[in-house]
Amino acid sequence: MPSILASKALLATGIALASACLVAHAAAGTEGPDRSLAPTPPMGWNTWNTFADHIDEVQIRQMADVMVSSGMREAGYIYLNLDDNWMADTPRDAQGNLQADPVKFPSGLKALADYIHSKGLKFGIYGDRGSATCAGPAGSGSYGHEEQDARTFAAWGVDYLKYDNCNVGTRTTSEAMREDFENMGRALRASGRSIVYSICAWKLRTHESWMPATGHLWRTTGDIRPTWAGRNPQRSMLAIVDEHAGLEAYQRPGAWNDPDMLEVGVPAPWYDLPTWHYPVLDETEAQSHFALWAMFSAPLFAGNDLRTMSRATRELLTHRGLIALDQDPLGIQARRVHHEPDGTDLFLKPLANGDVAALLLNRAERPRTMALGWPRQATAVQDVLTGKVLQAGRGEYRAEVPAHGVMVLRLTGVRPEQVSLRP
Ligand code: GAL
Repeated sequence: MPSILASKALLATGIALASACLVAHAAAGTEGPDRSLAPTPPMGWNTWNTFADHIDEVQIRQMADVMVSSGMREAGYIYLNLDDNWMADTPRDAQGNLQADPVKFPSGLKALADYIHSKGLKFGIYGDRGSATCAGPAGSGSYGHEEQDARTFAAWGVDYLKYDNCNVGTRTTSEAMREDFENMGRALRASGRSIVYSICAWKLRTHESWMPATGHLWRTTGDIRPTWAGRNPQRSMLAIVDEHAGLEAYQRPGAWNDPDMLEVGVPAPWYDLPTWHYPVLDETEAQSHFALWAMFSAPLFAGNDLRTMSRATRELLTHRGLIALDQDPLGIQARRVHHEPDGTDLFLKPLANGDVAALLLNRAERPRTMALGWPRQATAVQDVLTGKVLQAGRGEYRAEVPAHGVMVLRLTGVRPEQVSLRP
């Protein structure tokens, strides 16, 4: 377990390296993305986790309507993003321009974008650096078409591009990957439209610190699945947390580590059936998942069917106290300062107003009494999940946390290193 001081040194080194990297880029004439486009982690809704290729314009318009009527837009969910499988079976016309599936989107994507914009939302789309997207037809990838495709996206009114890493042929080296992602970044900047750039290469390896210099966000892990633990068929929520923890140094306002989208209220993925035999996240687990993403200041992309979501799901997705942690202007990814694989994790996150957020995660299979301690001179302490004000002068809070549950406190008048786990 690194001490907090050692971790701080690591953070400083990380920032220095990231800055050196940015300077090197500037010297080479590769200007980076406009950081003001995503000053806090982007929030929105994406088609993939529930619907995969079962998408169409009627459903997307309904989602836009519900983003407004459910209070999601008001809570900060602004982007409505089409993931894979929006393109036609013959994905390019005679001029090589990408075209949308005429059956799924008979009115075209420009009309859909106009509708989304009329609701006060922004429109996101999905592409790939190879010859085809991960689940799309041959020719749907943007390799060799970067500028043309960026112009098409801009003409449609796209505000956000998630750019994937499939079907890359022989371009498997780190250098080729970097070159392809940088090419699309440049093409987006040249398109004349402000477009948030989301790099989807499933991992942030330490030697790939070009990702934070090139994108507004970049995936740190493989694909998430709506289950608590284990690594099959892809990554469980907890496997993602364990991979994502420790990457704090790469993140800063305008540039975000992305541990993949939310699985709150998402059913077993039909596209994994019949190999899926895992319990989906229950309400406690979904709350822990959302609270952890908020502590990370992760991008928040819901993926559930908004039209049929339960009240509990809606209340969790729009939880003001947790979203305030996620959207905190400092944008610091919480540091894990204590970790026991089958026991307790403690995450700490400094906030812009000087407060500290602390999250205790019960990884065990049974409810446990868990306790956090802090110096008695703390001036205020709040239980973020319930909104209840706790007695700051007591210097400790002890409560039963359900199996797979969390305790989240917001403390005023203390420093992160003064908050500790109590036996
Ligand atoms: C994966 C990506 C997923 C989803 C999928 C679509 O590579 O990580 O989030 O976009 O492709 O085919």
